[in-house]
Order: sequence, then C-alpha cells, then structure tokens
Amino acid sequence: MAKALRVLPLILALLLTLGGCAGAPRRDSEEEALLLGFAQLGSESAWRLGNTRSVQEAAQRAGIQLMYENAEQKQEKQIKAIRSFIAYQVDVIAFAPIVEDGWDTVLMEAREAGIPVLTTDRMIHTEDESLYAGFVGSDFQAEGEKAGQFLLRKAQEMGAEHLNIVEISGTIDSTPMKQRGQGFRNAIQDDSRFTIVASLSGDFLRSKGKECMEQLLAAHSDIDVLYSHNDAMTLGAIEAIEEKGLEPGQDIVIITVDGEQAAVDLLKEGKVNCVVECTPLIGDTIMELARKLAAGESIERATYSEERVFTEFDEDLDSLPERGY
Ligand code: AHR
Repeated sequence: MAKALRVLPLILALLLTLGGCAGAPRRDSEEEALLLGFAQLGSESAWRLGNTRSVQEAAQRAGIQLMYENAEQKQEKQIKAIRSFIAYQVDVIAFAPIVEDGWDTVLMEAREAGIPVLTTDRMIHTEDESLYAGFVGSDFQAEGEKAGQFLLRKAQEMGAEHLNIVEISGTIDSTPMKQRGQGFRNAIQDDSRFTIVASLSGDFLRSKGKECMEQLLAAHSDIDVLYSHNDAMTLGAIEAIEEKGLEPGQDIVIITVDGEQAAVDLLKEGKVNCVVECTPLIGDTIMELARKLAAGESIERATYSEERVFTEFDEDLDSLPERGY
C-alpha cells in the first residue's frame, strides 16, 4: 500500500506529460501492442501536419500503440518528450530532430534503458553513431541538386547570360537546411552564369518567408531567381513579391521544395517554376522499421523515400493525383 502511494504521483506526472496517452505505464504482457514513442518537432507547415497525420494513421493501421508528443519547435521539449518515453519504457523511440546537434546525452539514456531509436525526417550529428539504429526520410542533398539542375535547364531555355539568385533557407543547423543548400550549390557552382547574392533563414515558416523576401527585395533590385527551402516560406515570399508589384514565376523564377498541394497549384498557375518533391508520407515505413527494431532485428542505416520533381516543362501537370498534404 505504502509503495503504491509512493509511485502514484510518478504515474500521474507521466500521464500528464504524455498528453493524449491513456492507460498506466508500460504493460507487462508481451501480447499487448508494440508501443512507439514519437516526438514530432513542431507544426510549422502543411508538410509537417501531413507528416504527423501519416505517422498517426500508419500506427493505427499497423496496430501499433503511439505515444505522440509535439515539441513546438523547441529542442528542449523534444528532449523532454524522449525522456518521458524512456520513463514509460516504450519499445521503440522515433523522433524528427529539429537540429542535428545536442542529442547525445538523452540518446545515451535511451541506450542504457535498452530502447532502440529511429530518427525520422531529419538526421542527427554525433561522434557515436551507435546511439541510433537508423534514419528514415528524404535525401535532402539530392533535393538541392535537383533544384540546381532545374535552374541549369531554365537558364538554357531563357538564353540567360547571368542570373542573380536569392536563397531563403530553413531552420539553421537542421539537416534539410544544410543539405538542400549544399546540393544546390554543388549543381551550379561550376557555372559562372549564377551568383547567389544573398541567403537568409526563414525557419521553414510562411510568415518568416514573407519577411525574408521583403528584406531581399528592399536590398536587391536585380533578383532573377528565388530558391526557397520549403513551400511554406515560398507562399510567404510570393505574397511579398506580388505586393512589390512583381510577377512571381515571370519576373522572378521560383524554385521551391516539398510538393504541398498549394505549391503544385501555383506551379500550374505559372507562379512557381519548379517544385522539388519531399514526401512527408513516411508513416508506414516508420511502423515497418519500428516492428523490426522491437523484434531485435537490424535495419538499414538510412531508408530514403523515392521522390520526383515537378516543373513548368512537365506535360502531365493537369493529371497529377491529389498530393495528400
Ligand atoms: O524536414 C523537412 C522540412 O521540414 C520540410 O521541407 C518543411 O516543410 C518542414 O518544415
């Protein structure tokens, strides 16, 4: 009785931390559903909402019990969520790391507790690669390269001698920000027709995308190309471009990443020139990998999604299926 009273506050605290999760901490029976703790990084874009939905629906389909936490763009909150999963003794932890550095301590705690960890969507940087079992998501470097390759073709079609590029990048020190930037530069760096005149971070947010574009337009009168690291920021940037009296897609070539329905619609309207796909629909693969990890099986270090590019040169734009995010 005395022991039960001592653990009661702990159980209550855990239940409160794990908002939305019903029931008592970790089950005893092996018969019960696999328990997956998923720490999402935030809700910054339609892409992110689509990713959350994909994970939640896939867990339901797979009969996996999901403990879901949203860190609202704060690394400390994500670390706290992972600690609560460890305390709850989940079978597997999955998380979409907001930035690459700063995970070693909490992942050592997961390892000591014997819980395998999967990083989803973004990667981490650590000296000890054994701290996580694997990664599932997009090849962001390839996405950046595809954006650059589109620009090479576009410049050719335009007969352009020189193009000034502005970049609106994602969250500083996040994997997509680093790799989309690098991949793009790799594709265009040997071609003297291109100059990246400015690069600002819009944190993957529509509001900041607009602010960045306003600043860029105020500082540069000769912008030919906008390379934006996600659709949310592109939508904000387009507002700024139109408010300045310019025509997006005509006066400024627009290259964006994600492939949200809104961006593909703008591509069809001619306000965007290229949309590099980055799919958030990785829920089923996460569940498949979580099952393997819970069964003690090994998984690939990296599982990448298959993705394409949509451009103004495509002939099938009108017959594209709904994007789903
Ligand atoms: O990590 C993937 C990126 O994060 C998506 O491109 C973006 O929309 C989201 O914020």
